[in-house]
Amino acid sequence: ESSDPLVASKLNVYATQQFPGELTKSHFPEGFIFGSAGSAYQLEGAAFQGNKGRSIWDEFVTRKGTIIDNSTGNIATDHFHRYPEDIWLMKDIGFDAYHLSISWPRIFPDGVGVVNKEGVEFYHKMFDALLEAEIEPYVTIYNWDMPLSLEETMGGWLSPNMVDIYGKFARFCFKEFGGKVKKWLTFNEIHSFVQLGYLSGIFAPGRCSQPYGNCIKGDSSAEPWIAAHNALNGHAHVVNIYKKEFQKHQNGTIGIKNDCMWYFPLTNSKEDKEAAQRGLEFYLGWFMDPIIFGDYPLSMRNYLGARLPKFTKKQKTLIKGSYDWIGFNHYSTQYAYHTNQTIDNDSGVGFTPYCNGTIIGPEAASPWLWIYPSGIRHLLNWIRDRYNNPPIYITENGVDEFNTAKTLSIAQQLNDTTRINYYHDYLQNVLLAIKDGCDIRSYFAWSLLDNFEWATGYTVRFGLYYVDFDNDQARYPKASAFWFRKVLKGDK
Ligand code: NOJ
Repeated sequence: ESSDPLVASKLNVYATQQFPGELTKSHFPEGFIFGSAGSAYQLEGAAFQGNKGRSIWDEFVTRKGTIIDNSTGNIATDHFHRYPEDIWLMKDIGFDAYHLSISWPRIFPDGVGVVNKEGVEFYHKMFDALLEAEIEPYVTIYNWDMPLSLEETMGGWLSPNMVDIYGKFARFCFKEFGGKVKKWLTFNEIHSFVQLGYLSGIFAPGRCSQPYGNCIKGDSSAEPWIAAHNALNGHAHVVNIYKKEFQKHQNGTIGIKNDCMWYFPLTNSKEDKEAAQRGLEFYLGWFMDPIIFGDYPLSMRNYLGARLPKFTKKQKTLIKGSYDWIGFNHYSTQYAYHTNQTIDNDSGVGFTPYCNGTIIGPEAASPWLWIYPSGIRHLLNWIRDRYNNPPIYITENGVDEFNTAKTLSIAQQLNDTTRINYYHDYLQNVLLAIKDGCDIRSYFAWSLLDNFEWATGYTVRFGLYYVDFDNDQARYPKASAFWFRKVLKGDK
């Protein structure tokens, strides 16, 4: 940890506290939900089966060099066929809920118009099987797999016309599945798909200012903000549709899945303290401020000026308060510092995992994942303080290790002590955040299964279950699956 005494003492405020006794479900409040999370493109596979249309990810993975191991989600974990077994695995661990997403091009192969009955049938069967197992579905409507035709004909999220089209898709989902699904989420991590899709270009649709690899020429200085703006208006529109047309008789609730890292100031200087705060505002405030307060954070307006689109009066009214609860994904912590050099997004904030040469915490396989358990508690408290303690559902938390299938036996790879420690320590900090007074309702582990980790393909593994991608996608429980079962079910 930091050798700067002030930063070090701040870091230690939470780090030294432990929740007493062995961690079990009974420490959590009555009704607290435990689950696992996944998404359609990362798990389903069957990319060209069941009359599914193509998504921007189906196209993106065919561009050379976009995915580290040249892999695709064509088969992924084959969840499309194996979901009954997977539901059994969830049940076995003791999960109450499952977060999944609906593949838009599986329902509307062209984005709008003709409905694909086979796709609709698939999700009906999935929801039926979940309900039968008494596992509650939490469903995200947009999880990055935009129908390709919408990208090609309209420019996807760069077009304000998407708001309405997305509304049509969402309305169809509510109407069709709302009898079975009571927990809806409009978007997964807008932050990720706009930053990585339109700024660095490493995610679909793969646009950026200075094309490298197979990026399409875009405008990194403007497009992320425009795409996010349209998505936020889409969110507000869809929440409004749900509330006006469905909520009363379907008796469900709706939120959005945001994500954020925690940032400590690198030094105790005023500039760095402000930079850490600004970093959080640019990351999470970008989405939370409009939804809770009706507009973007002032710091974003100050730094981005006219590049940041403006909400009209009508849009502000619609977006303010457009949630019943907030889904929240969290993995990692870094240091933030002030810089005049514009790194990625012109926020005047730089990030580093190092303080005076010491790394903040152990590095996982993903190059952005440093393990720092009390980061989640800091962030949950930050959310409570800034947004007046909204109901938070932790919808993702987890850690990955490298795929060592080429060098180690499966048995060797199942011994995932790092993951057990990660879950143990992060869950403890969730408990401490609850004790601090944060209104936290759920915890979803990412993920039940090893799966397709976007641009890093199958080179990393996030699962409680090991998936043998070379051998019929067979599943094997890792030590962490047994550990989680013990937390949730005791010795039963
Ligand atoms: C965030 C995303 O929602 C999910 O798709 C991804 O696999 C995990 N975090 C891990 O990176």
